[in-house]
Amino acid sequence: MASKLKLFWMLPVSFLLLSNCLHNGANAAPQVPCYFIFGDSLSDNGNNNNLKTLAKVNYLPYGIDFPEGPTGRFSNDRNMQDVIVEYLGFQNYMPPFARAQGRSILKGVNYASGSAGIRDESGKQLVCVCVYIYIYIFQKHSLLAQSVSIFLSFTLTKETSFLSNDYINNYFVPEFYNTSRQYTPEQYAAVLVEQYSHQIKVLYGHGARKFALYGIGLIGCTPYAISVYGTNGSPCVDKLNTNATLFNERLMPLVKELNTNLTDAKFTYLNPSPSPQDVLSFVTNSTCCEVGGGGGELCVRNSKPCSDRSRFVFWDAVHPTDAWNELLAESAYRTNSTSEAHPFNIQTLAKLK
Ligand SMILES: *[C@@H]1O[C@H](CO)[C@@H](O)[C@H](O)[C@H]1NC(C)=O
Ligand SMILES: *[C@@H]1O[C@H](CO)[C@@H](O)[C@H](O)[C@H]1NC(C)=O
Ligand SMILES: *[C@@H]1O[C@H](CO)[C@@H](O)[C@H](O)[C@H]1NC(C)=O
Ligand SMILES: *[C@@H]1O[C@H](CO)[C@@H](O)[C@H](O)[C@H]1NC(C)=O
Ligand SMILES: *[C@@H]1O[C@H](CO)[C@@H](O)[C@H](O)[C@H]1NC(C)=O
Repeated sequence: MASKLKLFWMLPVSFLLLSNCLHNGANAAPQVPCYFIFGDSLSDNGNNNNLKTLAKVNYLPYGIDFPEGPTGRFSNDRNMQDVIVEYLGFQNYMPPFARAQGRSILKGVNYASGSAGIRDESGKQLVCVCVYIYIYIFQKHSLLAQSVSIFLSFTLTKETSFLSNDYINNYFVPEFYNTSRQYTPEQYAAVLVEQYSHQIKVLYGHGARKFALYGIGLIGCTPYAISVYGTNGSPCVDKLNTNATLFNERLMPLVKELNTNLTDAKFTYLNPSPSPQDVLSFVTNSTCCEVGGGGGELCVRNSKPCSDRSRFVFWDAVHPTDAWNELLAESAYRTNSTSEAHPFNIQTLAKLK
């Protein structure tokens, strides 16, 4: 029971961004003119497919429930940002930047890349389109888009994720990275928030005006973390969760400061959680697919997944199922809980002038 409750905090790590690009008169209008997504595998929808990397999933059983089949989404069907795009009233999901072209980019692009992090080097051992690279690409696109306002949101969920990757694919991998020797956990959280703040300001400088920044979820509760680090009797890997919390505790005041300093922009902090009742009806202690692909955390190619996918939190050993993503997205969009969305939920953020 205790372990199930803790899982509320297990969120995908991703980073998304909405922008006020060109209005496109026709059709039922979405609630925002456009939406840009930055993040990691929790939000990636195919950007890694043609990279030589372990962090890609354009094979079955990924996408088994998605109309187009395996697209590179780290889920059986939609990821959390797909669901938010639906809630915002868009008719199509945002195209992955690897394939986006022409006028379609004016409505939004998904720059998320599996294993990306805030720090340039995070995930390098896996190979990703790391953050500075895609911000750079975004900038080029924004010249085209002449964007006026952007809503950028950053979700953190697991280990192979944006902020999560700065921990799971960096700080906690001393064989590859020396950050844990250079920084105490407190210093590392401060350094990450500082770098994040800089990146957010770069996007602001390019016209982004509405930002949704997601805290890191309980990365220590994923089946992958538990199998790699062990829990020493706890339900989750406590050192991962407590380090992630150090980051979140600095992100919240950053959001406040940005709202104070950049008065023509709006920022919100999100850490959505399904309700306890919802959680009780989910299987939290095993994965739906047979894992062993990628670095050990992904589904085995062409393996047969569980049939009751709507009851599992974890699709593979780090990424949630479509059913769980839907609950996370619903919370981020509608919740009135200030611990999950502060000061605005996405619905409110989208409406603000
Ligand atoms: C990290 O360690 C490598 C060698 O292991 C070294 O080349 C590099 O300079 C170190 N980085 C920093 C920032 O200290
Ligand atoms: C953060 O992780 C380190 C291991 O690298 C651990 O020693 C430390 O206790 C953790 N910090 C917190 C606040 O849990
Ligand atoms: C906000 O402005 C104050 C005062 O100029 C400055 O010290 C602080 O660093 C700024 N914060 C951010 C996140 O830019
Ligand atoms: C998961 O939890 C359920 C209910 O608590 C239990 O029956 C089952 O054996 C557990 N499965 C694993 C793989 O630990
Ligand atoms: C949040 O508050 C608004 C306004 O009071 C209300 O209409 C809405 O139903 C609430 N949302 C939830 C999820 O309770």
